[in-house]
Amino acid sequence: MNLGFLASHGGSNMQAIIDATKSGALSARPALLISNNRNSQATARAQSEGMPFTVLNSVTHPDPAELDRAMLASLEEHGVDLIILAGYMKMIGPEVLAAYEDRILNIHPSLLPKFGGHGMFGQHVHRAVLEAGEKTTGVTIHLVNNEYDQGRIIAQTEVPVLPDDTVESLAARVLKCEHEFFVETLARIVASGLHVS
Ligand code: GRF
Repeated sequence: MNLGFLASHGGSNMQAIIDATKSGALSARPALLISNNRNSQATARAQSEGMPFTVLNSVTHPDPAELDRAMLASLEEHGVDLIILAGYMKMIGPEVLAAYEDRILNIHPSLLPKFGGHGMFGQHVHRAVLEAGEKTTGVTIHLVNNEYDQGRIIAQTEVPVLPDDTVESLAARVLKCEHEFFVETLARIVASGLHVS
């Protein structure tokens, strides 16, 4: 099974998944990275892994419909079966959504539907969790549709919030959990023959 990644920044989740394909923990092939950000760590990681990558964004394609079509063409050209959003900060266009219905996964660093939606990304999520006085947070993997963080939830796992947590300490604990949980969940999906349930 060919994996296509969409990532905007660090790409540490993408790296964890690539590492799992190399160790044999995950039977899949990292086939492509599409990034909107040419100077991201994600593109540097793709380059050093020898994985094909392409930069597609509103500069390369000012017309959103053309950007959507270019993404779909690139995904199809590389035979991508499953799209993985790993810190991708843009919406997915309607053509890609239709062609990959139920085959686009996102990871979010909270227990959705809590602390999700537009503007809820990165440290904003963890700050909101701490400000709300939550004792538990977590990680959600969900299908992607045309609304931020609204697609059907595939898997969730909890992460404790500790009394002396800062945004940084909580973010680090959740990110470490994301890496393990994404690989585990993908392994389950691959084993089921791409049956996402
Ligand atoms: C992760 O916290 C993920 O849940 C969120 O964006 C972050 C991406 O981190 N969607 P990385 O780019 O994989 O390091």
